[in-house]
Amino acid sequence: MKTSLSIAACLVLSARFAAAQDAVPDQVAAGKMVYMTVCFACHQPTGLGLPPVFPPLTKSEYVAGSPERFAAMILKGNAGPMTIEGKPYNNIMPGQELMLTDDKIAAVMTFVRSSFGNSAPAVPASVVAAARAKFAERKTPWTEAELKAWKDDAAPAK
Ligand code: HEC
Repeated sequence: MKTSLSIAACLVLSARFAAAQDAVPDQVAAGKMVYMTVCFACHQPTGLGLPPVFPPLTKSEYVAGSPERFAAMILKGNAGPMTIEGKPYNNIMPGQELMLTDDKIAAVMTFVRSSFGNSAPAVPASVVAAARAKFAERKTPWTEAELKAWKDDAAPAK
């Protein structure tokens, strides 16, 4: 009995070890699930969006640029006039801070940054946790002017 228990424990440990080694593929798979639960409704399974209502995530500077800014956008949303891939949008993306954990936001960011023609590095959950803490007081979605002027590690915006 004791032996079989310790064999089972070893199997669990080695499975955990294998999972840690495959962290990035796992994060992409987890991120795809988040995308297909939350983001796809507006940005579509293809990431092409539905212009002129929902913008595409292909070739987006917001996706491939500052991870802090992208995390902040998912946390708080963004709204008002925006020009994306040369086309005007003026709509509202709802913030997901109450719906998604840091892990899930980091995963969906990593998935989007490696999909739809984007190839930007993976994002660790610590980046999302830091953005969540930094902008804890912020209650409104970001505007294009704020996003364009984004500087990582700037004083928390109000
Ligand atoms: C309810 C619809 C909706 C959902 C859900 C949604 N978005 Fe958006 N998203 C929008 C709209 C609308 C805009 C443009 C806002 C504007 O016009 O000011 C936008 C803008 C963006 C932008 C910046 C512009 C661009 O296309 O690059 C990014 C990046 C983005 N969304 C990513 C995401 C991700 C990732 C998720 C899932 C976690 C998500 N969105 C969920 C509607 C949505």
